[in-house]
Amino acid sequence: MKKEKLIKKYDKQVKVYENNRANQKLAGWRSKIIKNAYGKVLEVGVGAGANFPYYDRNNVEVTGVDFSSEMIKSAKRAASVFQVKAEFIQEDIDELILEHNSFDCIVSTLSLCSYPDPIVTLSKFNSWCRKDGIILLMEHGLSSNPLLSFTQKMIDPLYAKISGCHCNRNIDKIIEKSNLQVDHIERYWSDIIYLIRARPSK
Ligand SMILES: C[S@@+](CC[C@H](N)C(=O)[O-])C[C@H]1O[C@@H](n2cnc3c(N)ncnc32)[C@H](O)[C@@H]1O
Repeated sequence: MKKEKLIKKYDKQVKVYENNRANQKLAGWRSKIIKNAYGKVLEVGVGAGANFPYYDRNNVEVTGVDFSSEMIKSAKRAASVFQVKAEFIQEDIDELILEHNSFDCIVSTLSLCSYPDPIVTLSKFNSWCRKDGIILLMEHGLSSNPLLSFTQKMIDPLYAKISGCHCNRNIDKIIEKSNLQVDHIERYWSDIIYLIRARPSK
């Protein structure tokens, strides 16, 4: 899908993502992963700022990136409501240029599904994160249940057309190829949801 079309698709979904902030299951997983964030945080694909309630606001300064102007507006409101110190960059992750080793923590939630090549995106996280920093991911991918994963693969073309994101990402393979050093993985919801704490490769 062309980038301009994808951006418009996400612009139009901002209300859906704002409503999703009330999803209790997602809230529990977000809280579990985001409580590990500290210092200078880069949150990629920040969306409607659904993670802002869970940051330790005394311990983080967040830079939120998203290519959708509507998502950025919504994330700004969320940062203000939850009093998280934050600045925002409206940019495509593929075009984003940041200094190497410049963040203590990189956060991505439910976003690897959106990028054309998530391994390339993770290699960027690797370079932007300080070598003693932490990379926190909450992502969705293929289930370990064969019937569910078969269904995910079958519906992916339609799913991607409607939502802009893929439901058939093989997170295990993506993480393995990314060279991130994984410290901890938890999986939920028939193993579709991954909570991952990792460090950049040396
Ligand atoms: C599926 S939503 C997830 C939003 C949020 N992280 C959450 O947990 O609810 C993906 C977000 O990534 C943004 N996004 C997708 N592709 C992008 C890209 N190439 N560059 C920057 N942002 C992108 C979308 O605009 C959207 O806000």
